[in-house]
Amino acid sequence: MKKRPSVTVAAVHAKALETEALSAISSAETLDELDAARIRYLGRKSELKQALRDVRDRETGMSLNAVRERLEQAVEQRRTALERVELDRRLAEGAVDVTLPGTPVSRGHLHLITQIRREVEDIFLGLGYEVVDGREIETPRYLFDALNMPPTHVTRSPLHTLYLSDKLVLRTETSPAQIHAMEKRDPPVYMVSLGRVYRRDTIDPTHYPIFHQVEGLAVDRGITLADLKGTLRLLLRRLFGEDVEARIRTSFFPFTEPSVEADVSCFVCDKRGCRVCKYEGWIEVGGAGMVDPNVLEFVGYGPEQVSGFAFGWGLERIAQIRHNVPDIRELWSGDLRVTRQF
Ligand code: DAH
Repeated sequence: MKKRPSVTVAAVHAKALETEALSAISSAETLDELDAARIRYLGRKSELKQALRDVRDRETGMSLNAVRERLEQAVEQRRTALERVELDRRLAEGAVDVTLPGTPVSRGHLHLITQIRREVEDIFLGLGYEVVDGREIETPRYLFDALNMPPTHVTRSPLHTLYLSDKLVLRTETSPAQIHAMEKRDPPVYMVSLGRVYRRDTIDPTHYPIFHQVEGLAVDRGITLADLKGTLRLLLRRLFGEDVEARIRTSFFPFTEPSVEADVSCFVCDKRGCRVCKYEGWIEVGGAGMVDPNVLEFVGYGPEQVSGFAFGWGLERIAQIRHNVPDIRELWSGDLRVTRQF
């Protein structure tokens, strides 16, 4: 009979090794501990791998390989178990309370001037007016001649108006939009036009070389100054509230006769007089008047048949008065700390 003592010894030893390895694997509490056990019992330098390399007979080889397989299986099982524990722990840690309010996301909003622009458009759309576009680049004919400005008028000077060339100017007011509107339509005309205007003004708390105006025009049979007053009063109430007091003063514009200017009671001192209203008690919001017959004739309307009123107000001025913005530059700064307030 062939003696195979080494096999028996090896087999006994392998059994002990397996028991020891299985207990190390099952008692590993973390993935790191498990990995340490795996390296120790199944790594390249482990006793088992060493024995497998040295094996000379088939039977020993098979039984050692069986041990290796069982240990590998045990490692995988333990790994799965530990991973689940780890996952559970992390889920519990990061548990979300779905009843808590979320982090608010700032969505951004329209600039104050755009808000006021749309508000004014809505007010006039509600009165049956049309909203029309104007042109920021005009010809002197539309900006000056059509608006009844004599050749010597001061706004024709390049010190006041930005000329792009001899024939093109940046409009200093939205009033030419009246002319375009009347040229394109027969009366009656009820329109507003809102947009930017440009002036060579020195910058100060109430002046900026670019700003916005709303131009309004109503031409029909029998329009009177009373219609103008009623319309302006309504606009003032809608913009500044029912309590605002308004007054209308005479003034002068080449394209209206008579011309007026509208003031509102000072929002700071309520007419007592303060720095904001320059101790007048009133703040000017813009010009208006009855369309001059020369302007009506320029567009081919008969001043005997129709009459009209017009007005032009600054949107920045409205914003400053209504929201107590001390300096117009803040409305042009693009500073989010400013724009977010409105
Ligand atoms: N265009 C004038 C300005 O910029 C404002 C104005 C006054 C417009 C009277 C009008 C008006 O339409 O009738 O100061």
